[in-house]
Amino acid sequence: MAIDYTSAPIALSQGGPQAPRPQFFCDEVGRREFVCGGGASVLSVILATLLGGSKPVRAEAVTGSLPELDRVAVRIVIDSYQFAVAPSRKLPNLDVQHFGWGLSDKPPRRTLVSEFGLAMQVESRRGDETRNILVDFGFTPEALLNNANLLGIDPAAIDALVLSHGHQDHFGGLVGFLQAHSGKLKPKLPLFVGGEGCFCAREWTAPPVRGSFGVIDRKALEAADVAVTVAERPALIVDHAMVTGQIGQKTFEKVLSPSAMTIGFDRGVGCYPERLSEAERGAPVVPDQFQHEIATAFNLKGRGLVVLTSCSHRGVVNAIRQAQAAFGVERIHVVIGGFHLAPYQEDYVRDTVKALQEIDPTYVIPLHCTGEPFYEIARAAMPTKLVRAYTGTRLVFEP
Ligand SMILES: [Fe+2]
Repeated sequence: MAIDYTSAPIALSQGGPQAPRPQFFCDEVGRREFVCGGGASVLSVILATLLGGSKPVRAEAVTGSLPELDRVAVRIVIDSYQFAVAPSRKLPNLDVQHFGWGLSDKPPRRTLVSEFGLAMQVESRRGDETRNILVDFGFTPEALLNNANLLGIDPAAIDALVLSHGHQDHFGGLVGFLQAHSGKLKPKLPLFVGGEGCFCAREWTAPPVRGSFGVIDRKALEAADVAVTVAERPALIVDHAMVTGQIGQKTFEKVLSPSAMTIGFDRGVGCYPERLSEAERGAPVVPDQFQHEIATAFNLKGRGLVVLTSCSHRGVVNAIRQAQAAFGVERIHVVIGGFHLAPYQEDYVRDTVKALQEIDPTYVIPLHCTGEPFYEIARAAMPTKLVRAYTGTRLVFEP
């Protein structure tokens, strides 16, 4: 299927609170080089904007077929749990490589750190061309720096960053990682986000305890020479990967709101109200609906999409449906990520498993916020599809 990936950067004025709201939607700008369509047709728009920075970033316009990859290797850099003695194994079209201890001939001084956060690194290959992307950054820089170092992730080889949504357990390690590797990262390293909402300060409002849930230091991003790139709509990134754009709600799945966003920008942090939707900026503090959440996908040759859902606040099935519609690929090879089912009743989890069975991916790899009941129900319902992965696990998918 030929797809027109067309970029149309929107230059903001210099990032102050009075900056005009970017015009992101195809009905507003559709007579320019955007491709607009409904249903399974593809709308591919990269809208690039340096947020809070001094220069707009232009995303490269790409026209052609959806990239077909020869290999997609997903490394779990941070998750809640590590199982050092899990045996690695080979499955059809999948090599599951657990990290073990990471021992050498020197006395061990460090080990992988697990925490309630998520970070993944993806190395994709097409012919002799390789791309490296970091998707999410865990809760703390200490865990991200420690694990990335132990796992041999070269900061200089990273081609792009993707932040799935604005929660501390996904962006917490970002700024510390950038600062620790200052001077080693590629200049103007793109950081893809799904919308301004990910920059709002957040409070955790759900049980067991309320409290600050962090905010991204935008000045630190600018100082690190990161090019924040907004992909509210589906976009191709570094010629290999895709982000879904904002995830629609087209299934039975319901968004729970465990956090609240504070609307406003002050001293280098926060979100510009003008850049938020009316629903998002309706009050000084609003319950989080995760309008800005995005998933990441890779098209493995002959197999279909490898979808990284990250945290699935908008629903894991919604994220998959969004990827299918966005990229015109029906076949799902793998769904991997946090499925955010822990807070839901068992019936809801069963409905999710049933919906995943209908989608029929080859592999389902739950992480992070998925919750224990899903593992039990999915193991009974689709034992050959369910694969366990832990902090440090590398999952190599090949056609
Ligand atoms: Fe999360």
